[in-house]
Amino acid sequence: MSDIAIEVEDLGKRYRLGASAPYHRLSEAMVGLTTLPFRATRKLFHPPTSPMANTPGTASRGGNATSGASASDLWALRHVSFQLKEGEVLGVIGRNGSGKSTLLKLLSRVTEPTEGHANIRGRVGSLLEVGTGFHPELTGRENIFLNGAILGMTPADIRKRFDEIVAFSELEKFLDTPVKRYSSGMYTRLAFAVAAHLEPDILVVDEVLAVGDLAFQKKCLGKMSEVSRTGRTVLFVSHNMTAVQTLCTSAMLLDAGELICVGKVGTTIGRYRDNMDDQYAVRRWNDDDSAPGDDVVRILSMDAGTDDQSCVSTIEQCTPFHVAMTYRVFQSSCILIPNIHLYTADGVCISTAIDHQSSSIPKQPGVYKTILHIPAPLISPGIIHVNAAMTTFAPWVVHFHITPGISLTIAEDQHGLTNRAGYTGMLPGVVLPNYQWATTPA
Ligand SMILES: Nc1ncnc2c1ncn2[C@@H]1O[C@H](COP(=O)(O)OP(=O)(O)OP(=O)(O)O)[C@@H](O)[C@H]1O
Ligand SMILES: [Mg+2]
Repeated sequence: MSDIAIEVEDLGKRYRLGASAPYHRLSEAMVGLTTLPFRATRKLFHPPTSPMANTPGTASRGGNATSGASASDLWALRHVSFQLKEGEVLGVIGRNGSGKSTLLKLLSRVTEPTEGHANIRGRVGSLLEVGTGFHPELTGRENIFLNGAILGMTPADIRKRFDEIVAFSELEKFLDTPVKRYSSGMYTRLAFAVAAHLEPDILVVDEVLAVGDLAFQKKCLGKMSEVSRTGRTVLFVSHNMTAVQTLCTSAMLLDAGELICVGKVGTTIGRYRDNMDDQYAVRRWNDDDSAPGDDVVRILSMDAGTDDQSCVSTIEQCTPFHVAMTYRVFQSSCILIPNIHLYTADGVCISTAIDHQSSSIPKQPGVYKTILHIPAPLISPGIIHVNAAMTTFAPWVVHFHITPGISLTIAEDQHGLTNRAGYTGMLPGVVLPNYQWATTPA
């Protein structure tokens, strides 16, 4: 018997903008949900009568491009094919609007594909956007039973799980309140509790971390990893790369509705980060006359690298790296002190590095390269900005000061994950060296 839980082939979803109200979340959801009990093994085909499905080849490849058929058409997802094995935990990542939620909605049968199909083995429990999957007029209690019934459970089965769901959601006091009166945080608590506790074969979770407080986020992540340990398949959309790295066994990157890659979590996250900050990884000034500087010295380039790779923009936290600046000196016997400044994305100075050796070595005209070696693990994961300057002291002159310089991503690797001891939330601080701990009976 095949161990494939989800098989997606050439899946596409086109929205026609402006034709009608774009979001039909609840109605779409209810259409999908009423068919759920019959979906133990199901296929999602595009409806042959759909006017949108009858114009193949008219739209350009790639999600957010408008199609040739109509300027108001938008492919939220296109030409997506992949397979997911039972028990895999797939992280779905990508920029805003890249098609992540659309993919989950298609797999949860909340909306129909325009083209292609998805074969899904098993019952799907979904936590999608707020507004999907619950009936607003019904109370929390009634919605739990409704969702259970939709998932094909008997009232006795649901009652067995009921207390657990209520306890997890911490909404005892609001159980008999219609969910339309819930805040988005309360709604998410109940929706996650229902999705995770009603024993679906496949759990589909969209960005649960965006809503809810830290304690609840942690609880959700714990529950998801518990669900995945029982061999169930999980699809998890998140912008929190630490959570994806901790929880997922594989990851998928979407961009503008296109599937860029699916595979190892670390590689996929690296690819995503490279896409985000490519333009800042290297800077070059080719023209001596217009490059920043003066008639003493002008900068030619800045970049970063590791022992294995030059010009990198993503560096694992455990990997030592270097930042290099090249510059042309025009005058004889000048004392020039290169200095490099490291900042967090929030503008906090991590460190100011001054090349003290240069203070005793006068430079002659020519091109020089100065390299700053940065040990690891040292800097906390996140985006860092690297600025470069050239200074002469006594008299004090700043010949150039490149700000902003280049930007790098320090990516969390096993070192960082180990330091977390399972905690997945934000870890404040600008440095994260290899701390040594010792606990002994006192
Ligand atoms: N019902 C709809 N009608 C029209 N356009 C839609 C609809 N749903 C999504 N879109 C569009 O489809 C594209 C993909 O949206 P989607 O919600 O899948 O992105 P996403 O990757 O989940 O983004 P985010 O990270 O912001 O949640 C976007 O351009 C969005 O505006
Ligand atoms: Mg989304």
